[in-house]
Amino acid sequence: MYACFRSIGAYVPKNVLTNHDLEQRVDTSDEWITKRTGIKTRHIADKDETTSDMGTKAARLALERAAMQPDDIDMIVCATISPDYFCMPSTACMIAKKLGVANVPAMDISAACSGFIYALATAKAYIEAGMAKNVLIIGAEKLSAIVDWTDRTTCILFGDGAGAAIVSATENKEEAIIDVNIAADGKYYNYLITPGCGTNHPCSEEVLKERACFIKMKGNETFKVAVKTLTSDVEEILAKNGIASEQITHFIPHQANYRILNAVANALGLSDDQVVMTVSKYGNTSSASIPMAMNEIYEAGKLKKGDLMLLDAFGGGFTWGSALVPFCG
Ligand code: ACO
Repeated sequence: MYACFRSIGAYVPKNVLTNHDLEQRVDTSDEWITKRTGIKTRHIADKDETTSDMGTKAARLALERAAMQPDDIDMIVCATISPDYFCMPSTACMIAKKLGVANVPAMDISAACSGFIYALATAKAYIEAGMAKNVLIIGAEKLSAIVDWTDRTTCILFGDGAGAAIVSATENKEEAIIDVNIAADGKYYNYLITPGCGTNHPCSEEVLKERACFIKMKGNETFKVAVKTLTSDVEEILAKNGIASEQITHFIPHQANYRILNAVANALGLSDDQVVMTVSKYGNTSSASIPMAMNEIYEAGKLKKGDLMLLDAFGGGFTWGSALVPFCG
């Protein structure tokens, strides 16, 4: 049995936060943000809108596009670093509840911006092992809730949103996900971290005063490792599978910074037509960014059955991953 990528859906919250809006909050400028990141706007969830609300909306669309009912799902995997609840229940359980799905495994994956590829690897492995037939995978984030809105080095980068996909069993090798590679190196754990409120620094007045429950990032150092790792990761998966970069229809990388994406695309010799870039509209939505970008080209009529997608992500941990995926929608 093989695993195929059957459908895509996404949800973007309606509120738009522009660089000019951010100029009113912190010492920054539209010019700095545009030049250093390529970001112009990001979408921000309502106060009472949760990560699972957004994930559920994306999931409903993915189900509809696969012509499936929630009952057809036999596993739910949600990648997120901004769960509805701190330790439990998982956001996947909340999505299961909202979809009306019971008695199937539902779990979260914490792999920061690489989370969607980790979820895809999990779905593929369960299907190939014969343990699941239709897996709902989701990347959903309400990063606005874990961003320090007084820290100009991070608050300009992130946005909210969700993407979801159905990964199904197939006997047709032509449809099969070709390969997924995931990896991590924990020695970089403190380059991108929410230092407080875990068991290392349990929630206390001091932790709250130091704003240690929000995202902290060594941006420049992260940038350098990201470019190197994203490039070598893709070179490896292409070489391992004997696929040339010209054979890729859509390169869909994690949307963190247009300078990172351009550097990786240039190193791989990919043309502008092949590279999907949504960072200017949505900013960095962590685990949601790849499925949101994929949904963008699907809704624009550019993602067709049989197109070969190359996914590539890098994030906190550090974690990273890449995947070669024919679209079977
Ligand atoms: N507005 C104006 N100036 C700023 C701002 C801002 N918003 N933020 C920082 N600066 C200043 C700094 O203070 C610094 O000033 P100094 O030279 O006087 O000290 C100067 O701008 C340059 O700062 P750098 O951090 O060196 O800027 P850089 O070019 O590296 O860009 C950025 C910063 C955009 C964060 C970039 O490093 C980046 O994109 N890093 C990688 C992000 C990433 O890929 N993360 C992984 C995934 S995210 C996840 O997993 C959740």
